[in-house]
Amino acid sequence: MPMPTSLPEPQAVASSITRSAIFLVATLADGDAHAETVRAWCADVAAVVRAVGHRVPDGNLSCVCGFGSDAWDRLFGAPRPAALHPFREFGAGERMAPATPGDLLLHIRAEAMDLCFELATQLLGKLGDAVRVVDEVHGFRNFDMRAMIGFVDGTENPTGREAAGFTVIGEEDAGFAGGSYVMVQKYLHDMAGWNALPVEAQELIIGRRKLSDIELDASVKPSNSHSALTTLDDNGQEVKILRNNMVFGRPGAGEFGTYFIAYARSPAPIEQMLENMFVGRPPGNYDRLLDFSRAVTGGLFFVPSADLLEALADRGGAGQ
Ligand code: HEM
Repeated sequence: MPMPTSLPEPQAVASSITRSAIFLVATLADGDAHAETVRAWCADVAAVVRAVGHRVPDGNLSCVCGFGSDAWDRLFGAPRPAALHPFREFGAGERMAPATPGDLLLHIRAEAMDLCFELATQLLGKLGDAVRVVDEVHGFRNFDMRAMIGFVDGTENPTGREAAGFTVIGEEDAGFAGGSYVMVQKYLHDMAGWNALPVEAQELIIGRRKLSDIELDASVKPSNSHSALTTLDDNGQEVKILRNNMVFGRPGAGEFGTYFIAYARSPAPIEQMLENMFVGRPPGNYDRLLDFSRAVTGGLFFVPSADLLEALADRGGAGQ
């Protein structure tokens, strides 16, 4: 898809990889006064990020805000982003990607947790009773970019102009150009089960070598490996998404997790990957990583451009 030449400024979607992150998912409280608080807050976010981030110039602090489908209507009414809808569930039974409540997503990243913590505190302080946080995850970068399951994560992410091309909305929805879609899922792992597998079996599940991170040769890479099922081909063109997963957990509670977060220009490629993983491509040929990983949350959000986020403060919600 061609990119228009003068896009509104995106939020910090393509911010570089940091050591720390906080993921906050919140629901909106009822009532017009609370909706007005959230709208007014939209115009403040950038200034708060500047104020906190400026104190640590190398800290690389950023925040991306996204809004769920129902929340968009309540807060901002029409027009709405063309592809925004509630999170679509995939799979069934034990292997299921569930939708869970969420109106507002904050993806806060920085080199150090103190910066993330301070920004989360300041931004939530301004929101007050207008929202209720329903999920809060403090994530960290694990050694040499390793996911909880011990494999290097994020290798095949697009970078630079390619990343912008895959994540930033352009002429296909001109009123929302400069925006993105973001999907989050919180996964918990059965680490005892995973660690009991021989490394060679783990490598066939992921589709890459564990130590070196080199992709398995096509002749040995299974069609149900994670990397095969998440590789999408659109008439010979690969369709990519931008992931920034983080590791989290509480060893004392036996909790070992991956916070999956992915940005894209449309929800469709991320949904296709979920279908391939949970249902299988073809159906039944599913991602064996899911035998050791359970999705416990799921949300889809629209990320307005930085310019639109600020301007949203002046918009009325449904029926206003
Ligand atoms: C249990 C949670 C997950 C873990 C631990 C995980 C881990 C990994 C690892 C280790 C890789 C290989 C290195 C890389 O290129 O990043 C990878 C690749 C990838 N994953 Fe995941 N992932 C998870 C969930 C997901 C989900 C839910 C999606 C999409 C809906 C996804 C999409 C991708 C994509 C697109 C690639 C690159 C494939 C390629 O081009 O070779 N992952 N993941």
